[in-house]
Amino acid sequence: MTLRSAVVPTVKPYERRYRQAVRDLIFRSYRVHTHLDWQEVEDWLDSPDHPALLAWVGDRLVGALAASAPLSSACWLRLVVVSDFGDAGRAISTLWQAMSEYLRMRGVRTVALLISRDWMLSHLRNIGFHPVEDIVTLARARQAVLDVAPPDDVFLRLIYPDDIDALTAIDHAAFAPPWQMERADVRLAEKVSSIATAAVRDGTIIGYSLYTVYVDGAHLARLAVVPQAQGLGIASALISDALHRFARRSIFTMTVNTQASNTRSQQLYQRFGFVLNGFDLPVWMIDLV
Ligand SMILES: CC(C)(COP(=O)(O)OP(=O)(O)OC[C@H]1O[C@@H](n2cnc3c(N)ncnc32)[C@H](O)[C@@H]1OP(=O)(O)O)[C@@H](O)C(=O)NCCC(=O)NCCS
Repeated sequence: MTLRSAVVPTVKPYERRYRQAVRDLIFRSYRVHTHLDWQEVEDWLDSPDHPALLAWVGDRLVGALAASAPLSSACWLRLVVVSDFGDAGRAISTLWQAMSEYLRMRGVRTVALLISRDWMLSHLRNIGFHPVEDIVTLARARQAVLDVAPPDDVFLRLIYPDDIDALTAIDHAAFAPPWQMERADVRLAEKVSSIATAAVRDGTIIGYSLYTVYVDGAHLARLAVVPQAQGLGIASALISDALHRFARRSIFTMTVNTQASNTRSQQLYQRFGFVLNGFDLPVWMIDLV
């Protein structure tokens, strides 16, 4: 039975002492959305860079909302959770009102959210989000690897932890908001990568790729080339090199995600034998005016 409450929840910023309460709410509730990529919820919430708000009715936690660090006037809602007991719509709209005011003050103009579960759709529509894009998945089965060498003045090497600033700069130059990764995410992504490679010209990194390994294959987690060096075969060389490296470890299958509108990257992946597998996730956005 759902208990409905006419009480408007009180919204307060997240504090570390509420860590267990948030954990419990996430564990117990049906209506949970997390999109934290490489981070655990608690680490995520405890980072001062991530705006996080909690909704309370009395001393009962009824909802939480957390966003990524604003970057180039954009951010992602990465944690949404509401209690099974109470008015979910009211909790979300109250949290969103406070969050949107805060983000506006921080200069954010676009907020995005990856739809992982259907329960969110009506609530998001009610607060003004709308569908903008799909994230598509391409998968590559075991097959011969297309050999692509980098241009003569470019060489490939493994990435070192010292490269994180350079990778972040490339990421921000190659991707438009809200698709850019914050430095902390680049660092974590590199850390959990099984293979991480860079393309270097005149001592400067001009492109990079990161790959993780899961049970029975690899995942191309990130690929970017600076705009001035695109179209020269650098991404192709990075992918070709990584497929060979994985094949030497008897890993032959690979997946990758990209935006449905990113036809350029899809053409590139298709040349290497990746095919769309139909696993699509919608991305909804709202413009804060
Ligand atoms: C997608 C991306 C990684 C491709 O990198 P890239 O180094 O330009 O890729 P390549 O050069 O290997 O291939 C791209 C094109 O250049 C062409 N090309 C390859 N070698 C070439 C050469 N020697 N001379 C001219 N063109 C060449 C390819 O045929 C390909 O053509 P297409 O655009 O018609 O498909 C790059 O555009 C990028 O960083 N984009 C923004 C971030 C992004 O979308 N990342 C991937 C999705 S998550």
